[in-house]
Amino acid sequence: MRPLIAGNWKMNGLAASLSEAKAIAEGAREVEGRVDVMLCPPATLIERLRRLTSGSPLLVGGQDCHADVSGAHTGDLSAEMLKDAGATAVIVGHSERRTDHGETDVMVRAKAQAARTAGLTVIICVGETEAERDAGQTLAVLSRQLEGSIPDEDPADVVLAYEPVWAIGTGRTPGEADIAQVHAYIRQTLTARFGQAGESVRILYGGSMKPDNAAAILAVRDVAGGLVGGASLKAADFLAIAGAAADV
Ligand code: PGA
Repeated sequence: MRPLIAGNWKMNGLAASLSEAKAIAEGAREVEGRVDVMLCPPATLIERLRRLTSGSPLLVGGQDCHADVSGAHTGDLSAEMLKDAGATAVIVGHSERRTDHGETDVMVRAKAQAARTAGLTVIICVGETEAERDAGQTLAVLSRQLEGSIPDEDPADVVLAYEPVWAIGTGRTPGEADIAQVHAYIRQTLTARFGQAGESVRILYGGSMKPDNAAAILAVRDVAGGLVGGASLKAADFLAIAGAAADV
């Protein structure tokens, strides 16, 4: 399965950051055909990034979308708008959205459905908090999130991202055995629900993925890439991770 390395810039990036994105687009050529490389900048930069990197294999995604196509939702963006701006994918259900905006599994599923209807690949994020992990609840939490957040239709355009909340932006990561256990559990859940189609869903790892730990994490069975926050802001770091994915 071809890995996907997706960079999530979160609320970082001004026009001045586009030079970094351009370097990433150029680096993406080196791994073209072996690794899919994506950047999810703030929505304000999607169109400029697309124009600047047209002709390169870099994929561009959004970080969130509303569940409706249009309407009275001040400040929100629909999946169709992201597509119109040049995105081919969108992240939904990131833990920062779940925490900062009270997004529930039901909301995440509606957003995922809207993204699919718009023709976008949807990256659905799941992951346990530290308290849940300490209480031995990791798989139970994931079971609930997977059940509630993934739409029922054929998951061909769905990507899952396992992001332990306590690993995001902290420099801490689970051990490889823990990642393997969770990814196997997600795979098993997907195949139980979708049959053969569940086998080809890419499952990314996210949370403090860096150049120095990427190779080991990406080598774990059923890890088909990464969702990368901090390390995606610097072209050299992000491309080192994409390079590690190409070598797996
Ligand atoms: P991080 O963020 O790589 O900075 O931990 C990952 C994410 O939140 O997607």
